[in-house]
Amino acid sequence: MHLASTLLAIIAALTLSEAFLGLKSPGHLPFRRLPSLAATVPVGSVTELPPGERKVVDTEAGAVIVTNVGGSLYAVLAKCPHLGLPMKTGVIAIEGGEPTITCKFHNSKFALTDGKCKAWSESVFGIKGTEGIAGFVGGFGGAKGSPATVFPTSMSEEGIVSIEM
Ligand code: FES
Repeated sequence: MHLASTLLAIIAALTLSEAFLGLKSPGHLPFRRLPSLAATVPVGSVTELPPGERKVVDTEAGAVIVTNVGGSLYAVLAKCPHLGLPMKTGVIAIEGGEPTITCKFHNSKFALTDGKCKAWSESVFGIKGTEGIAGFVGGFGGAKGSPATVFPTSMSEEGIVSIEM
């Protein structure tokens, strides 16, 4: 009951802010690829990122997750394009041979290669039976199927990993 009340309060706040105050949720920001900041942001030594690890780096664009999936490095903005909530602890996996990150709030899923949306607002906190609520909540924030923002990564001869922004 407490969860339902909280969800209704969030939905009401979003509705009020968008419909009556003219405010835009973070989901309306351009998420696919931010305008180039022409910056190379150092992440650290590749030895800090063995397969299965992730590191969150603060950048001008916001927190960026850099992760090693199966020996390949990927960088994705740690802000979900649905409601703009943090994805720092999102579930990273390989599905259908493709590396993905899944937001824990409503289980939206994105390819780490190009940010493409693979699933949009499927459930609430992964709780079975919340699919209907998630479908409703999925109508708020970013447009359905919005992609996550991904960045290229690079590595110097010394093994220093960077994000290219
Ligand atoms: S905020 Fe990420 S799926 Fe809703």
